[in-house]
Amino acid sequence: MKKERKIKNSFNNLIVTGGCGFIGSNFIRHLIKDDNFSGRIINLDKLTYAGNPENLEDIATEFGPRYVFQKVDICDAVKLEKVFSEYDIDAVCHFAAESHVDRSIKDPGSFIQTNIIGTFNQPDFVICDQELLKTLPEDEYLSGLAEMIKSGFIGDAGLIGEIEKNVEPILKRETSLLSKLIARTVKIKASIVSEDEKESGIRMLLNFGHTFGHAIESQSGLKHGFAVAGGMKIAADISVGMGFLKPVDRDRLLSLLNSFNLLTDNKISYDEVKKYILQDKKRSGDSLNFIILEKTGKAVVKKIPAEILLDYYTGQNIV
Ligand SMILES: NC(=O)c1ccc[n+]([C@@H]2O[C@H](COP(=O)([O-])OP(=O)(O)OC[C@H]3O[C@@H](n4cnc5c(N)ncnc54)[C@H](O)[C@@H]3O)[C@@H](O)[C@H]2O)c1
Ligand SMILES: [Zn+2]
Repeated sequence: MKKERKIKNSFNNLIVTGGCGFIGSNFIRHLIKDDNFSGRIINLDKLTYAGNPENLEDIATEFGPRYVFQKVDICDAVKLEKVFSEYDIDAVCHFAAESHVDRSIKDPGSFIQTNIIGTFNQPDFVICDQELLKTLPEDEYLSGLAEMIKSGFIGDAGLIGEIEKNVEPILKRETSLLSKLIARTVKIKASIVSEDEKESGIRMLLNFGHTFGHAIESQSGLKHGFAVAGGMKIAADISVGMGFLKPVDRDRLLSLLNSFNLLTDNKISYDEVKKYILQDKKRSGDSLNFIILEKTGKAVVKKIPAEILLDYYTGQNIV
C-alpha cells in the first residue's frame, strides 16, 4: 500500500543543499512536481566532481521562479547568510557531502572536510522554531516534553518548577513560554555535552530513563518520549529503593509525567528487559553505569550490577 504523504504548504522557501548530486536532484525533481507543495526550492551546491547542474536543467525551464540554483559552498558562512536573508527560509534539507567511498582514499582532504570535520565540530548556535511545534501531532509534542522533564530532573530544579507552574500553557503550546523553557533545556544539554564531548563521564546523565526506556520502546512500539517516561519511573523507583532518592522527589517526577499523560501501563517481560540491560552501551562487565536520581535537579552515575537492577525490576511487580 502506498504510504500517504503530507507536505506542509507552510514551507514557502526550502533550501536543499547538494541538490545537484544523486539524491538531491531526485529529491528536488520529486518534490517540485508534488501537488501538495507549492513553495520555492533553493538548491545550494558547490559543484564538486559529483554535482551536475544539468541534472535539473529541465526543472529550471519548467518551474522557473519556483526553482533557484546557486553555486555555494555550505562551509562559506557569509554566502549562506546572504541566501538566508535574501529568501525567507522555512526549512533546510541537507544532502551536501563528499560521499563517495573512493574519495576517502584518493584526495581525502575534501572528504575529511565534509564527512569528518563536519561531524565533530560543535555548532556555534542553535535555532529552535517554536511555531513549528504547533504543527506536530499531540503524541509527538508530548513525547518531546518527556526529554525536557528529563533534563530538568538531571540538571535544573528551577526548570521543573517552571514546568509544574505552567502545565496548561505548555499543553496549549504557548510560543513565548516554550521559547524560555526550550532555551533552558538546551543550556542544560550544552553544558553537559561541552564538559564531556566523548561521553565518558557526566554526559551519561543524559541517558537518565533510557536504559529501561529503550527496552520499553522496542517492545511496545511507544514513541521515544513515552518510553523514556516509563524508564524514568523505573529509574526513580530504583533510586528510592536503593536509598539515594527521597520518595517525595520520585512522586514529584511521576506527578509531572502524569500531568502530560506520559505514563502508560506497559508490562515488558523479564526476559526482554534482561536482553536489553545486557546489551546496554553503558555496561561494563556485569555492571551497568546506571543513572540514579539523587534529588530534583541532580542525577549521578552509579555502577550497579545488572542482576540488582533486574531484581528491582521484578520486585516492583511491573513484570
Ligand atoms: N547514494 C546513496 O546510496 C546514499 C545512501 C545513504 C546516504 N547517502 C548520503 O546522502 C548524501 C547525498 O548522497 P548522494 O549520493 O546524493 O551524493 P552525491 O555525491 O551524488 O552528491 C553530493 C552533492 O553535494 C555537493 N557538495 C559536496 N560538498 C559540498 C559543499 N561543501 N557545499 C555544497 N555542496 C556540496 C556535491 O557537489 C554534490 O552535488 C550524502 O551525505 C551521502 O553520504 C547516500
Ligand atoms: Zn532520548
